[in-house]
Amino acid sequence: MPKPPKHVFICNQARPPNHPRGSCQGKGGNDILQAFWGQVQARNLWDKFSVTYSGCLGPCDTGPNVLVYPEGIMYGGVTKEDVTAIIDEHLLGDKVVERLKVPESVW
Ligand code: FES
Repeated sequence: MPKPPKHVFICNQARPPNHPRGSCQGKGGNDILQAFWGQVQARNLWDKFSVTYSGCLGPCDTGPNVLVYPEGIMYGGVTKEDVTAIIDEHLLGDKVVERLKVPESVW
């Protein structure tokens, strides 16, 4: 398998209802993951970047969180409607989606 130029980690951590930290899955993490996989398949983007679901990435308060490497950019409060922007602008266009970036104090 060739090394992907970029790698997207989508937090899909689950926690019990009413857990004090909440969870990205409880806030739509799985919808985001499915949206990424759906676009990779529909647009044949297999060699452009890798998509991997993850456990907790740390800053649960800002979730659902999506982390892009090698840049180490974390996006927070992501919805499935934001997935196209992350793909087109960042993963394919190399331009960070500033409106979705978590504050420096978070990451
Ligand atoms: S549950 Fe997603 S960052 Fe903690």
